[in-house]
Amino acid sequence: MQVTRLSEALGAEITGIDVSNIDEATYDAIHEAFLEHLILVFRDQDLTPQQQITFSEHYGEVEVHLATDHLHPDTDKMILISNKQVDGRYVGAVSAGDYWHSDLSCQARPNLASFLLARELPTDGGDTGFCNQYAALDTLPDDLRQKIEGRNGIHTFNRMRNPRVKVPEMHKGDAQMRYADRAPPDGIHPIIRTHPETGRKALYVSHRFTVGIEEMPDEESRPILDAIFEHQLNDDLLYRHKWRLGDMIMWDNRCTTHHAYGGIPAGQIRHMHRTSLIGDVPF
Ligand code: SIN
Repeated sequence: MQVTRLSEALGAEITGIDVSNIDEATYDAIHEAFLEHLILVFRDQDLTPQQQITFSEHYGEVEVHLATDHLHPDTDKMILISNKQVDGRYVGAVSAGDYWHSDLSCQARPNLASFLLARELPTDGGDTGFCNQYAALDTLPDDLRQKIEGRNGIHTFNRMRNPRVKVPEMHKGDAQMRYADRAPPDGIHPIIRTHPETGRKALYVSHRFTVGIEEMPDEESRPILDAIFEHQLNDDLLYRHKWRLGDMIMWDNRCTTHHAYGGIPAGQIRHMHRTSLIGDVPF
């Protein structure tokens, strides 16, 4: 197995292995690389859904995503991220990733890690960006850090409660209530969280899910969150991945955020298989 750094900010490429056929020592080496590089790109993986699930399960318990209408038809342990339509209906979550986020931080136990495999790709666009939240915290201006030290962020699934994001057409009208009903209770998590395995501290707020700061009026929290979100877009913190067919990315949701940049040419398909692991309660 070869591990090659992908950027100054985060990320490593893993080559020379087939993740459907690896031994314990390699699982351990991957885990070590994962904690060091935060996101891993495995090249040339031709995995069945079950092989991806088996690989994922080696690192934790796979979650059944709450967006049940986009689960893989053969298994509820995998969600489709796709703009493919059958009978006028999207088979996958089409707007997943349209704003920076850490997976399901709106839950009491957000995702530990996610695994995204590229099955069909457009000729252009469809990149995914990743942001190193250890580094985002380390480089946060002191005055901003003081304002969030010891504070909790409020994270919501319901886009209708987040003025920073758009509500996709498919969630409007009749579907609006169903969508809002599906929202779990807000996730309330430390804005500076401690990674349970490395012990390092990371920023844990995002554009998509964080709508406020607990016990702070909105007029006060809004500019603080805006300043943090702008800081998180600093190029020095980011890696932008241009997908190749057969890439599978494994990312650590406890210390990174990610974003699907879009820009897929009209009529072209981007179809991805995603599994995610249930994480700890952030502290
Ligand atoms: C996601 O947010 O899980 C999806 C990211 C992507 O489609 O690039």
